[in-house]
Amino acid sequence: MLRKVKVPSRVNIIGEHTDYVGGLAMPFACSPYLEITVDTNPSEYSGDATVIDLWKCAGGWPTKIHVESEIPIGKGMSSSAALCLGIVLAVNESIEPMDACIEAQRIEHEILGTNCGLLDQIAIMFARKNCFSLINFTNLEISQFDIPHDWKFKLVDSGVHRALSQTSYNTQKNTNEHAKQENARVELAIDAGSVELGKLLNETHQSLIDLGVSNSIVNKSVEELQKTDGVLGARMMGGGFGGMILVLVSREDVLPSEPLVISSGPPVLEEII
Ligand code: GLA
Repeated sequence: MLRKVKVPSRVNIIGEHTDYVGGLAMPFACSPYLEITVDTNPSEYSGDATVIDLWKCAGGWPTKIHVESEIPIGKGMSSSAALCLGIVLAVNESIEPMDACIEAQRIEHEILGTNCGLLDQIAIMFARKNCFSLINFTNLEISQFDIPHDWKFKLVDSGVHRALSQTSYNTQKNTNEHAKQENARVELAIDAGSVELGKLLNETHQSLIDLGVSNSIVNKSVEELQKTDGVLGARMMGGGFGGMILVLVSREDVLPSEPLVISSGPPVLEEII
């Protein structure tokens, strides 16, 4: 029998670099997806070497593992968390959602070497279509809110790719003051109108510059986007050092070459006999 797990990626609206210091964040799951297929019958290990290491670390049996991913790698859309969660869910299909998040974080720390927080995993596992999650990382409380119709997001590639484990993400220090201000922005964002949300996104980008996790190439693109007609706000998204720029647009035809981000529900597991 084959077991397939389809895992979405995630957008984090606001609340960046807050998860590992007990702060707040406001993500939602979205397309594109990653799909992992495993044979439930034991055989020899076969597949990509890193995927097999993750699979073994999660307690998986010797088998064939196949991963197909549309999620761009190293671009702040949680490709690593999607992979680790997919593996954890394929190993143990009845695991509790929060346990799956913690287990996926553990294998990411151990095998991929990124000391990530729980933002990406929770965003994906607790996703609800057309909703964003408000996550409080002090007590792991999660609430869901409808995404307002006038919050229209697009993603623009900064052109800078990176593996977070190769950046200073793991040694990020003195983030408490940043987190305090970012938490205040998250609280304002929850029921902000789109114009106000745009301003908060711009402020967050400035705070990421101050935190030392951005760079001049990304900043130049962000600045240009912020000045573009119909753009309400723009900021680098995810761990930083490159990756995707999240853009809040006032209309679908702003930045016409980029599609609107489409929200998704949680991972879906399927068994094929
Ligand atoms: C990466 C990490 C998350 C989080 C963000 C920054 O996506 O995997 O845990 O720290 O960076 O908000």
